[in-house]
Amino acid sequence: MLTTPPLSLYVHLPWCVRKCPYCDFNSHEARGPLPFAPYVDALLADLDFDLPLAWGRTVRSVFFGGGTPSLFPPEAIDRFLQGASARLRFAPGCEITLETNPGTAEHGRFELYRAAGVNRLSFGIQSFDDGCLQRLGRIHDSADADAAVKLAQDAGFDNLNLDLMYALPQQTLAMAERDIERAFALQPAHISHYQLTLEPNTVFAARPPAGIPDDDGSWDMQEHCQALLADRGYAQYEVSAYARPGQQCQHNLNYWKYGDYLGIGAGAHGKLTLGGEQAVLRRWKHKHPARYLASAGSEAALGGDERIAPGRRPFEFMLNALRLVDGFSLLDFEARTGLGRSAIAVPLATAAARGWLMLEDQQVRPSELGRRFTNDVVALFLPD
Ligand SMILES: C[S@@+](CC[C@H](N)C(=O)[O-])C[C@H]1O[C@@H](n2cnc3c(N)ncnc32)[C@H](O)[C@@H]1O
Ligand code: SF4
Repeated sequence: MLTTPPLSLYVHLPWCVRKCPYCDFNSHEARGPLPFAPYVDALLADLDFDLPLAWGRTVRSVFFGGGTPSLFPPEAIDRFLQGASARLRFAPGCEITLETNPGTAEHGRFELYRAAGVNRLSFGIQSFDDGCLQRLGRIHDSADADAAVKLAQDAGFDNLNLDLMYALPQQTLAMAERDIERAFALQPAHISHYQLTLEPNTVFAARPPAGIPDDDGSWDMQEHCQALLADRGYAQYEVSAYARPGQQCQHNLNYWKYGDYLGIGAGAHGKLTLGGEQAVLRRWKHKHPARYLASAGSEAALGGDERIAPGRRPFEFMLNALRLVDGFSLLDFEARTGLGRSAIAVPLATAAARGWLMLEDQQVRPSELGRRFTNDVVALFLPD
């Protein structure tokens, strides 16, 4: 029996100052003034359209992702949050995150984001090495990054995430470790540490830059940085996420626990449990900002609606839950997929026999080996 999990709200803001050569997110270089006010109107219309999927439910977290949400003026974020909280109940202490590019930090803005209700910022730092930043095509240098984080802290933000990437062109192990040390100096609550991947249809995939560390080199960086992070009190709780005690990202945790989320904005994806019809629905919106702007709030803005067949739910669930260091409980598996645990008895036993998963009481945890080969583990749960 499917039961309704916590609900989050994802809001996609699709523009950036410049497109980074490694990035395959739905982000578009801003050419000329951006239509902030019409876009907020479109977001609210989009939310109205999706509301019947979430009647009566409480929002536990909001995440403004991009793109570069910090390009949006605080008045626009404020108007959206006011409109959203008039349509949906926000839980007390609801985590509200805004992704921020240090190259867009302006004096005085952070206070206003806070006043609008944003209580967590996620900074796209990537590296504190100016050579690395240049090779990544970033619009900021390391001094801008330090300054932006300090501005946010001065404005009263104490729940900050810093995004770092490793295995960068011409990066050595010592450089990757220095990036972690520089991040520590800013005392963030949370650090995301992503291995640079060459995504199809990006400039880097077409023309890979020289000096990308090989698999062994990347693995070394991951292990050393993970040890440094643990030593300073940042516990890894997901493949790329590290947090001080009690400061995990609630929004992302909800994704990884196969929770529900409304996805509004150009190209945004949502996932909703429909208790009445015992279905799991995925819904996504058109990616292109102009097309989205012209159609938001109507059927024409939908990229698609898909009901996930019960047989596919275990795979989807594992794709998320096995990213977590603590794995998942069998009770959550049953509640969120609507299937009995017998549905995964065979692949669970296979994974346990290979040393990939461990079962203790009701909890299934990936082993070190399992976390290294997540794709192989998850593939065991594909429907026949
Ligand atoms: C949508 S971006 C949000 C932040 C903001 N747009 C910025 O870049 O400053 C989310 C994060 O994903 C990571 N990321 C993007 N492309 C990546 C890639 N190809 N490989 C690894 N990490 C990537 C970066 O760390 C980035 O900060
Ligand atoms: S700023 Fe962020 S979202 Fe925009 S292109 Fe660069 S990595 Fe992608």
